[in-house]
Amino acid sequence: MRIIKTKTYEEMSAIAAGIIGGQVLLKPNCVLGLATGSSPIGAYKDLVKSYEDGILDFSEVRTVNLDEYCGLDDTNPNSYRYFMNHNFFDHINIDKYRTYVPNGLATDWKTECDNYDKLIRALGGIDLQLLGIGFNGHIGFNEPSDHFELETRRVALTESTMKANSRFFPNGGMPTHALTMGFKSILSAKKILLIAGPEKFDIVQKALKGPVTPEVPASILQLHDNVSVVYTADRDI
Ligand code: GLP
Repeated sequence: MRIIKTKTYEEMSAIAAGIIGGQVLLKPNCVLGLATGSSPIGAYKDLVKSYEDGILDFSEVRTVNLDEYCGLDDTNPNSYRYFMNHNFFDHINIDKYRTYVPNGLATDWKTECDNYDKLIRALGGIDLQLLGIGFNGHIGFNEPSDHFELETRRVALTESTMKANSRFFPNGGMPTHALTMGFKSILSAKKILLIAGPEKFDIVQKALKGPVTPEVPASILQLHDNVSVVYTADRDI
């Protein structure tokens, strides 16, 4: 595991964008696993800049996102599909048909989730998976549990996640459920890149240095052989 400490959000974003951009340069038709949240926004901005500068070409890249809220459509600014279009896809030369986000409106969510795992396999797996981390150690929406959940599935959000994310829903309407990629697809990624800001220091430390336990879902990353962690803090993990 490579653990890189940075002083600022900008530095963390630049390093993350460098790793993702390097993947695209090395394999122009790579499959990128992407994440939402405030942590990756800076990296997406830097990648857009590299595209505008003519350094990166996304025309052959395929992307799969980690998760989506149930019940929100792509015109809802809080949906993760909207987030991805708005922060990244609308600004680069990627064909949206090659970008996949679980469909939060699916009524047959079991089929939607099974098909999502099949899709990832059909794409040949994920080359590089970008991850953020929740305050409770969740990855995507894989919440703390008594076992590691492997499949993509519909989950009930925990109270702590609802509390953490309700800031994005000032007028209410915070979804109670989401579809999330499970650990089988996440860990099948050839490379994993976790990014975290200073407010996540304690949970990142617990996940990387504590016991591997489903109580801290991100701790499972200790079992993957190609993980880079880029975090912002003034002390070492
Ligand atoms: C949400 C997402 C996670 C993300 C987390 C952290 O809950 N489902 O995938 O990692 O937020 O977000 P932030 O980067 O805003 O702290």
